[in-house]
Amino acid sequence: MSILLTGGVGYIGSHAAVTLAQIGHKVVLYDNLSNSRADVVSRLARILGHAPVLIEGDVRDTELLAQTLRTYSVSAVMHFAGLKAVGESVAQPLAYYDNNVTGTQCLVRAMRRCGVRKLVFSSSATVYGEPQYLPLDEKHPTHAVNPYGRSKLHVEEMLSDLAVSDADWRIACLRYFNPVGAHSSGLIGEDPNGTPNNLMPYIAQVATGRRDRLSVFGGDYDTPDGTGVRDYIHVTDLADGHLAALNFLGRDDAAGWHAFNLGTGTGHSVLEVIQAFERASGMNVPYEIVARRPGDVASSYASSDKARQILGWQAGVRLDEMCISAWRWQQHCAQL
Ligand code: NAD
Ligand code: UFG
Repeated sequence: MSILLTGGVGYIGSHAAVTLAQIGHKVVLYDNLSNSRADVVSRLARILGHAPVLIEGDVRDTELLAQTLRTYSVSAVMHFAGLKAVGESVAQPLAYYDNNVTGTQCLVRAMRRCGVRKLVFSSSATVYGEPQYLPLDEKHPTHAVNPYGRSKLHVEEMLSDLAVSDADWRIACLRYFNPVGAHSSGLIGEDPNGTPNNLMPYIAQVATGRRDRLSVFGGDYDTPDGTGVRDYIHVTDLADGHLAALNFLGRDDAAGWHAFNLGTGTGHSVLEVIQAFERASGMNVPYEIVARRPGDVASSYASSDKARQILGWQAGVRLDEMCISAWRWQQHCAQL
């Protein structure tokens, strides 16, 4: 099957490209390279033995999208392209609505025009806002608390409306928890520009000595050790979840709109992640506990029962292995 991956050069899209290509799907990457580098394609070629097609373009360019869908006889789309930094979304909300909401609108227009109606969308656990109960299941009320989260929620609602309007659409919104780690080759991984916002890349940079110490945001949460608890999921497990969603969309009962959590179901505290990274790397990760980060919740972890039951998918990689792969990637990355 020929599959278009918008944002396919980015962190999660590039891992999904490997998973899909390795079982014989033809992948077409479509990316404006605003948060990624074209050399990822040559790294993918080293992993796969062939280079996937890259179309350099923006998801808001409906014409180029339609042309790409036709040229490569695409039958399904995975939509990773978008902006994802919470803080930046507060400072530049219009950029987030434009890229994430308008971008998706342009994409589904192009798809409709070309008769492509299978879509897997990168959503986020952020759509749940402050948890009212744990683990978070898909029935938990949605309430986004920042422009990034609201842009994801708007897209989910737009896609749900679209599926109601036309029974031919098959749409899976995958609500990722905290993706971390890298491909076992160490050739692709998460490579944030500037100071990392997220925990794992920050710890990795402290371990290499690129940064002095980690600031642990809050030590007085109502959690076993007082630090924030999250559901970290390895990026290759996440990639497998996309394949499972794609297979599901091919089934007779898959018409309409569906939301699935992709997490492990296990929460780990910041201190547990630091300790696991120290074990994985053999390095010291100095840290200090500082004030809470505004907008953070104490704990967030998934119930992925729905994905297990309907998609037949379950995460398998454990925290230690996530850290080992992140460290391997960090060392490769640092050597470049
Ligand atoms: P990423 O920034 O590494 O990848 C996104 C890719 O999309 C980049 O290659 C970027 O160049 C491209 N892109 C951005 N805007 C575009 C546009 N207008 N047109 C074409 N290409 C564009 O991010 P990622 O971590 O791989 O995330 C992928 C998706 O998953 C995003 O939609 C993100 O919101 C979502 N998500 C990520 C996380 C996470 O923690 N990484 C968690 C939940 C959801
Ligand atoms: N943390 C620190 N120090 C840091 C960075 C993070 O202590 O330098 C802590 C946070 O306070 C939190 C935990 O580490 O307790 C995880 O923080 P991340 O920033 O890595 O992840 P978040 O859970 O805050 O958010 C991530 C993405 C969001 C997405 C959400 C759910 O950044 O975009 O997961 O998928 F919405």
